[in-house]
Amino acid sequence: MDYFQYQDNQLYCEKVPVEQIAREVGTPVYIYSAATFAHHFQNLKKAFAEVNPLICYSVKGCGNIHICRLLAQMGSGFDVVSGGELFRVLQAGGRADTVVYAGVGKTDDEIQQAMGAGIAYFNIESEAELENLITLARNKDCQVKAALRINPDVDPKTHRHTTTGKKETKFGVDLERAMNVFEQFGRNENVRLHAVHLHIGSPINSTEPYIQAITKTLTFIDELRRKGFTIDTIDIGGGFGADYTTDQAPDAAEYAGAIIPLLKDKGLCLILEPGRSISGNAGIFVSRVLYTKQGGDKHFAIVDGAMNDLIRPMLYEAFHFIWPVTVANGFAVNTRREPMELPGTRKMDVVGPICETGDYLAKDRFLPPLKRGDLLSVFTAGAYGFAMSSQYNARPRAPEVLVTDSTFKIIRQRESYQDLIALEK
Ligand code: LLP
Repeated sequence: MDYFQYQDNQLYCEKVPVEQIAREVGTPVYIYSAATFAHHFQNLKKAFAEVNPLICYSVKGCGNIHICRLLAQMGSGFDVVSGGELFRVLQAGGRADTVVYAGVGKTDDEIQQAMGAGIAYFNIESEAELENLITLARNKDCQVKAALRINPDVDPKTHRHTTTGKKETKFGVDLERAMNVFEQFGRNENVRLHAVHLHIGSPINSTEPYIQAITKTLTFIDELRRKGFTIDTIDIGGGFGADYTTDQAPDAAEYAGAIIPLLKDKGLCLILEPGRSISGNAGIFVSRVLYTKQGGDKHFAIVDGAMNDLIRPMLYEAFHFIWPVTVANGFAVNTRREPMELPGTRKMDVVGPICETGDYLAKDRFLPPLKRGDLLSVFTAGAYGFAMSSQYNARPRAPEVLVTDSTFKIIRQRESYQDLIALEK
């Protein structure tokens, strides 16, 4: 669900024509809808209300400080994976005591920064990291709270690059070793290890992997409690899906319906770390057709956006629905499906100007007739879109625009050529 809809053959973001933003701000451009962020956050909150979780928005998917501020104002906590993300959250007015911090390679500086800020939980990924945290906390004579990230060895059935909860990944500690970790460190005074964390992958478009992983984790928590350890919190990570095609992902109520019965009455506080399910459908990426051409039997639309702006198609062979911003009669679609072979469409690849064959935004898509100057919207680009962008081929990064009802605001300017070299001087 999102607030990007066609009216009278024009794509709107809330009440603003996307064409107007492209004209005034230029292309390529990321456009976010504040109402869509709010909808997905509130929906999740409502769906899980019975167990009153701390929702920690995952900054890595879309970390612009204006977006973090929006989430903070709605009462969200934050999931961070670096000192830089913690800095973003604090700059945005987020509360440190609602921040959870995961990551396999936290540096001493980052740990000290997070201890100084007073974050809620360090999500510990290894024995060595825990030993280091204990040393740093003892040296500072302070007490911090930590969750051990366990690796429940469950297949989330998603792309291999974003599968994180199987035994052979670098994340967390497997269940056998996790018990030893508690036995060795579970009663430490400086690092209070009273919580368990898991994050098994992203996106997970079914509830089954959560049920398996949480069930295994609860058995482990029971065992810990029998041995006398205090466990008061479970953080089940992120990974809820977004709609790259209409109704692809379960909605918040479906995830909650599967998860709440497992956790109810277990005497555990629940933490959620949703990223994509909040930001994914809240953003589109808009670029302009520069040229069309034919190569053999293939037809190409060459646009001014590229893999440096949105790397997901190349990196994960990810599907993003693409459609013109202004369409002729009969082509206005508010349902996104794959494929969309409407009469009058032609099969095309949408590609960027970068000097790599893998520089594409879409392959073999049936699109209405396109010509130079037309605008194309790439949907569900709010998560891991701008956040994973680069300056490859010396392309200044695209701006980010936030729409609220009938107004829009540039929340990150387009980079200039000077920006490309500023740190090289
Ligand atoms: N918590 C932890 C510990 C994570 O590692 C992640 C994502 C999340 C929460 C948020 O997951 P989400 O709710 O957004 O699925 N670049 C990839 C996704 C990588 C996800 C990394 N970790 C993509 O574009 O699909």
